[in-house]
Amino acid sequence: MSTLYINRVSQKLDVLHSDAKNDFMRMGKGIIKSMFRPMQPDDFKDAYLPISREQGKEISKIIIENNFKNVVEFGTSFGISTIYLADAVRTTDGKVITTELLESKAIKAKQNIDDVGLSDYVEIRIGDAMETLKTLSKPIDFLFLDGWKNLYLPLFQLLEPLFNKGTLIYADNMDMSDTHNYASYLLSKKNEYNTQSIQNGKVYLSKFL
Ligand SMILES: C[S@@+](CC[C@H](N)C(=O)[O-])C[C@H]1O[C@@H](n2cnc3c(N)ncnc32)[C@H](O)[C@@H]1O
Repeated sequence: MSTLYINRVSQKLDVLHSDAKNDFMRMGKGIIKSMFRPMQPDDFKDAYLPISREQGKEISKIIIENNFKNVVEFGTSFGISTIYLADAVRTTDGKVITTELLESKAIKAKQNIDDVGLSDYVEIRIGDAMETLKTLSKPIDFLFLDGWKNLYLPLFQLLEPLFNKGTLIYADNMDMSDTHNYASYLLSKKNEYNTQSIQNGKVYLSKFL
């Protein structure tokens, strides 16, 4: 792997993470709207809402150390997390299937992924994850949950038949109230999943036993 290549990915991630720091301004309108009606994805069409660099590095390390190949992501946004995932599966010779509800965000994500030469490692499915991921048939090695939180449980249950012994499920934002039913489900299945809370309780990392 050339130094030039590593620099291209890390420089792009620097730019994207730095731009994402202005999310609080872009989120303003959406937050005001959600005071009067339930929050909708379109309210945040301009916001990245990304994972942190620390999480990106952690996810990448998990994928490489376990030699995971089949990676599925719920919630692409502008592709920050997808770049970490794709860069990791480039090492393991795997593939990321990611899904984003909003077409405008998916187009921007595709551009960002193309910019760093990782498009061969990524398939972006545009639409509701409950539909776009319904047709998956290959066993999943690593599932990254980061879309709307009320869908964590139904999506997990949709994909559960594709889990293998050792499949890891990384769920972000477990400190948000809409994730409670997902947390309770994992608790009710503690003979099947070994779950640890990491990143100060923000993330649940579950292993299918
Ligand atoms: C927290 S952001 C994802 C951030 C991204 N993983 C990153 O770290 O760069 C959540 C994204 O999920 C998308 N989303 C919400 N509901 C969805 C659904 N039903 N299907 C697919 N994507 C959805 C939103 O539009 C939003 O862009």
